[in-house]
Amino acid sequence: MTKVLVATDKPFAPVAVEGIKKIVQDAGYEFALLEKYTDVSQFLQAVADADALIVRSDLVTPQVLDAAKKLKIVVRAGAGYDNIDLQAATAHKVVVMNTPGQNANAVAELVFGMMIYHARAFFSGKSGSEIKGKTIGLHAFGNVGRRVAEIAKGFGMHVVAFDPYLPKEAFAALGVEAVSNVHDLYAKSNYVSLHIPANAETKRSINFDLLSRMPIPAVLVNTAREEVINEEDLLKMFAERKDFVYLADVAPACKAEIEANYAGRFFFTPKKMGAQTEEANINAGLAAANQIRDFFEKGITTFQVNK
Ligand code: 3PG
Repeated sequence: MTKVLVATDKPFAPVAVEGIKKIVQDAGYEFALLEKYTDVSQFLQAVADADALIVRSDLVTPQVLDAAKKLKIVVRAGAGYDNIDLQAATAHKVVVMNTPGQNANAVAELVFGMMIYHARAFFSGKSGSEIKGKTIGLHAFGNVGRRVAEIAKGFGMHVVAFDPYLPKEAFAALGVEAVSNVHDLYAKSNYVSLHIPANAETKRSINFDLLSRMPIPAVLVNTAREEVINEEDLLKMFAERKDFVYLADVAPACKAEIEANYAGRFFFTPKKMGAQTEEANINAGLAAANQIRDFFEKGITTFQVNK
């Protein structure tokens, strides 16, 4: 019998797990669940006889793929697939998919949650500021960036975006000002919100050269990936620009230094939680299960990322 394993260190909401289980079992497959595993050996054991795998940010390494002798498909229930070794998956003849857009709203809402928390002086009782009338620059305009643009408009913000992979019309449709040079994005924006994936091109790419172009006051919001930040340059920006604030979904490696020296100028979630809503878990989890069923039953590979 075809076996589908959900292996999530960070569990989905129970209602999402139930939904995934129903899709899997209705299709006549066996459902298996591994949550909050404490050692990779548990993952290796669980995946050994799985035909399909659903993960979140869980690492799908060559070791995992070697252990998964029957595996035919991995679906990353989410957007970023930097946790999956695509080359190794292809070498193992394993199809890798993501579920683009399914958790975008949750991530976009967290952007504003952090921005307002900061703008209102962390709800300390001190006088804060408003985000209305400020400019937000979106570094990449995919599903999350577009949703951030929609919400920002509702707040009365001016929205600028940079995405070299999209035509001008994609920005105009949402009333967003497109810039063709990334430097201009930072130069125009009091808030910059990152929506780039982590890959060879983007890792450590957010550097002092970009950040120092931001007007005063400058707030960098990172719900993308920790690795896209050049941390030496981040610390330089904190030191040289007294107005600079960093809000991030998970803390950087240099967290201790920031905490020790720059009180009131940062907020870090204790755990990556952009996609941690019941709705996002349901959307991404059920999409993953449906994609696996459609792959086995109809050979559909629409969201394959290792073609
Ligand atoms: C994504 O890439 O979809 C988000 O970063 C969410 O990741 P998570 O599923 O680990 O919360």
